[in-house]
Amino acid sequence: MQSLLLIVGTLLACHAIYLFIRRRMRARNLPPKYWTFDPFMNFDWIFSTALNAKKQLDLFEKYGDTYRLPRVMNPMSAIVTCNPSNVRTIMAGKDWGIEFRQAGMGQMLGSGFICNDGDEWMRSRKMLRPAFNRPNIDNFDVLEGVADNIIATIEAANGKLMHSSMHFILGIDSTEKNDGRPMDVQMFNKLWQEGLLGMGIRLLLGETFSKLFLPQARYRHVCNQLHSFIDFAIYKCKTENSDPTKKTKTMAEIVAPQAKDRADARSQLAQTMLASQDTTGVLICNTIHLLSTHPEVWAQLRKEVSSANPEFLTWDGLRSNTTIQNILSETLRLRPVFPQIGRAAIRDTFLPSGGGPDHDKPLPVPAGTFAISNTWGLHVSKEIYGSDANEWRPGRWNNFKPGNQEFVPFGAGPRACLGKEKALVEAAYLLARLVRRFESLEDRTPEWKPDASFSMKNRKGYEITFNI
Ligand code: HEM
Repeated sequence: MQSLLLIVGTLLACHAIYLFIRRRMRARNLPPKYWTFDPFMNFDWIFSTALNAKKQLDLFEKYGDTYRLPRVMNPMSAIVTCNPSNVRTIMAGKDWGIEFRQAGMGQMLGSGFICNDGDEWMRSRKMLRPAFNRPNIDNFDVLEGVADNIIATIEAANGKLMHSSMHFILGIDSTEKNDGRPMDVQMFNKLWQEGLLGMGIRLLLGETFSKLFLPQARYRHVCNQLHSFIDFAIYKCKTENSDPTKKTKTMAEIVAPQAKDRADARSQLAQTMLASQDTTGVLICNTIHLLSTHPEVWAQLRKEVSSANPEFLTWDGLRSNTTIQNILSETLRLRPVFPQIGRAAIRDTFLPSGGGPDHDKPLPVPAGTFAISNTWGLHVSKEIYGSDANEWRPGRWNNFKPGNQEFVPFGAGPRACLGKEKALVEAAYLLARLVRRFESLEDRTPEWKPDASFSMKNRKGYEITFNI
């Protein structure tokens, strides 16, 4: 009996040693390991990079362009990367999906392109696409009013931009009141922000923890209120006689007839509201701030805009103006609106880089592994953009053409941004109107401390003086 126990013990010990050595050998071929204090959820990484966004870049300095987050029983629960080939593969590859978002986002946003893969995602994208066709977005009527408003109340610029996107998506005029809407636009915006917070926490905690530990009644109420507002927009666009002479259609008018039912239409519209919120507005605010610290660029642009002919404030005029396009590209490079994008491996797959003893070989990635592709780290890579990669220098775009995996502010591949052209022309229009009106800018922002929890903006906003 004793010798049997000895044999079993020896076998078990040998097996443990074998597993240990195998794990060490495998780990040697994995990317560098982030030293986590929380091997269960990696909350230390999540919170430290959310509270201090610059840490995202510091960690690449420390570990290289690809590193992993380990958890108990899983040496690589997530990969964080700013390697150009990896970023593109994660954003554009068929093996990477986003359905994991459904549990946290579904209650508020329903089912649509932001949390679906495969056929369901394709169906949503097809439904939305006509809204972004050039004839439908080559129209500055609403934006003109927004620009007038911004110029009149320049300090409140950030809030005003929501109105234009609300009109484009829901067809709701933010100034109108007595059309039977369940609440005014200010209340909708307030509830939307509250809903986003609830949704973010649910996304972070996952379905089980959220159901167990979070109060549900208030969140349910907020979601219901938001839904009633979007339903009103759908009802309105279905019942109002469409004016046949109208040049453009709202997204509600385009989506409602194609949707399976009202809940489906509501999901598509709510998800587009999320995709479009804090995007063009953030780009404009970041651009204005960077221009306020580079008066020579503002002066050059003002000279060009002041002497331009009336055709300038049209789609073609704005999109072909090199100075404006360079300014926007450089801002999207240095302060990408979405600094990082997450996906999960749908099946066992590979990333082009991060494996092998020198971390430069293909990296095998098991199904279920989470990946965070960091556009910000990629956009400030000195290897790609040179030693002045951290400086804002719009002139660099005169001679520099990035490869298709080196500059991805609007994503890449089949999921790339549908609103890109609309966002760029609207930002150009607003910038041109501001530069025409104001002689110079003065930066009074105490500190640039990026908040990258959703889109990248300054944590405490910007303080800028516009001189007439
Ligand atoms: C400066 C402004 C904007 C930036 C930087 C931007 C950036 C992005 C990025 C990076 C993605 C890809 C997300 C991913 O790969 O998971 C995306 C997707 C998308 N964006 Fe934008 N966006 C902007 C404005 C807008 C606007 C104004 C709209 C709509 C009115 C919009 C609609 C969409 C849609 C519908 C998708 C999803 C495409 C899909 O999943 O098939 N975007 N955007």
